[in-house]
Amino acid sequence: MALAVADIIARCRAALVEHTPALAVRDVLDELVADGSSQSVLADALGPVEIGGITPLYNGDDLTILRVAWTPGMALNPHEHRMWAVIGMYGGQEDNAFYRRAPHGLEPAGGKELPAGDVLVLGDDVIHSVANTRRDFAVAVHVYGGDFFRVERSEWDFGTYEERPRDFERTRQLFDDANARWSEEQQRSG
Ligand SMILES: [Fe+2]
Repeated sequence: MALAVADIIARCRAALVEHTPALAVRDVLDELVADGSSQSVLADALGPVEIGGITPLYNGDDLTILRVAWTPGMALNPHEHRMWAVIGMYGGQEDNAFYRRAPHGLEPAGGKELPAGDVLVLGDDVIHSVANTRRDFAVAVHVYGGDFFRVERSEWDFGTYEERPRDFERTRQLFDDANARWSEEQQRSG
């Protein structure tokens, strides 16, 4: 039987009542991304990706579920979530870089490549940036233990590590620019 978006939401909601919700959500996503191919049940349920962006599947006080597709060549500057997050990759690969707070902004603290089929759990205080260096969309289901769009938090400039309030308009612009570049590139090579 085909997986529906409602099933994804129901499974994540059920995980919230477990002792450690983030780990329970990880188990849910582990199962859903298991085959890691374009034939994954998530690809079937959520449909093809034609443009990079953030698609909310569910947004409540205690849970947010997004489909996130990073456009080839794009990078999102360092940011925090102030809630746990679980990322389940089912297409392409996202490269995570981690940071810690430092007296004058941030300092790098390692990284993790996340190919399709992998699931990553991020604690409440994680600061990361994300890049898609490949030539296909990096596609994942992101689950957050709170209201992703309402909680106040910070982002940092890639170059200067200057801290500022998280700005979704800026993120939208990043996607728009990356999508425009990518479609131009596709047309040129067309
Ligand atoms: Fe993030």
